[in-house]
Amino acid sequence: MGPFALTQLLALISLTVALDNGLLKTPPMGWMAWERFRCDIDCKDDPENCISENLFKDTADRLAEDGWKDLGYEYVIIDDCWMSLLRDEHGRLQPDPSRFPGGIAHLARHIHDRGLKLGIYADMGTHTCMGFPGTTLDTIEIDAQTFASWGVDYLKFDGCYSNPIEQMLGYPLMSKALNATGRPMAYSCSWPVYVGGLPPNVNYSYLGDICHLWRNYYDIQDSWDSVQGIIEWFSNNQDDLQPAAGPGRWNDPDMLIIGNFGLSVDQARSQMALWAIMAAPLIMSNDLRNLDNIARAILQNKVAIAINQDPMGIQGRRLLQEKNRIEVYWRPLSNSASALVFLSRRTDMPYLYHTSLAKLQYQAGTYEAYDVFSGSTVRGFNATTEIKISINPSGVVMWYVYPEQQSKRTGSLHHQHKTFHNAKPEHSTVL
Ligand code: GLA
Repeated sequence: MGPFALTQLLALISLTVALDNGLLKTPPMGWMAWERFRCDIDCKDDPENCISENLFKDTADRLAEDGWKDLGYEYVIIDDCWMSLLRDEHGRLQPDPSRFPGGIAHLARHIHDRGLKLGIYADMGTHTCMGFPGTTLDTIEIDAQTFASWGVDYLKFDGCYSNPIEQMLGYPLMSKALNATGRPMAYSCSWPVYVGGLPPNVNYSYLGDICHLWRNYYDIQDSWDSVQGIIEWFSNNQDDLQPAAGPGRWNDPDMLIIGNFGLSVDQARSQMALWAIMAAPLIMSNDLRNLDNIARAILQNKVAIAINQDPMGIQGRRLLQEKNRIEVYWRPLSNSASALVFLSRRTDMPYLYHTSLAKLQYQAGTYEAYDVFSGSTVRGFNATTEIKISINPSGVVMWYVYPEQQSKRTGSLHHQHKTFHNAKPEHSTVL
């Protein structure tokens, strides 16, 4: 790039870059292809699982018909490997014609007709991470316009094959370009991952002005090790990350892998619980055509979802790491409520953990707690009452806690939930 072009670009981004289109006041919910379906482009031998319009149409149908949409799961997000290797004669990105014969606008219609929204993937750089055409500084505008013309509602903008200067210019430029289309689109930035995820390399308050969400850390894989590593990194760095989140600006620890092959039932609950505490996007990457009922119940748990989607949008924190390898997480919620998660990092047997709300810095008062995964309620205990909770290895107990008088309020989360829970108590919660 010549000095003139650089000056022009700097002038452009110094204009207002705020992406304040009112979207994502709560973390996005939906489904994304990547973790489960990767870059499978072999539609000849693997037609069910390859990255093609059929996969996204099938998934949209499942989201609409199997109760997901009603719970808030609304974005169907295409990841890498959707593109043709060449741009069209006007320089526009185009989908692979054999795998997306109807084109993206057609797919968007299928998705919109079902009350859902479409997300797409592009990469700030010469190539996407899997080697498809990238979006360089000179094609940002045309790509934003192409996406808008197709009816796209969400862009995941990856950062392979670019340097930090191109990223510093490109991410805000794309924000502006999306705004300029006039079509409200959610904007997910992978920028932080490519510069280490932490200040001073990442300016989180600036990022919050230009992106709705951002990937901070490495890709999730289908294993408990991976989930645990992500939880650990986000908690170790919570002083930098937690204040960055709020309505319209979210940290993204990556997709939910519940329903795949790598997690036990307890570990799946742990991912759901921690993603709710972290105010993380609830974007599943699984096969909604083949999902067992246990995974479905975890992903469709109304109280876990309500905690994740709390309108105050305050990200939670790890409060304690005990020597006995129990960790306590906490998130403040609307209506003087809060969520507590007790996570066991042990590998032996269920551990009987003793604590009290007072030990967790709660004020004096009488409380009730709803156990999110067992469906049982504990009534009328004080901050100083000793609590004993049995936590399975690599599992959680998750509580929705509220002052006692609130249980009488119609419409409270507790009341809404009571009509829906169907799980049998599995944790012995003894007071
Ligand atoms: C990067 C991203 C992933 C996925 C792949 C696609 O690794 O972090 O989420 O989009 O690229 O190639």
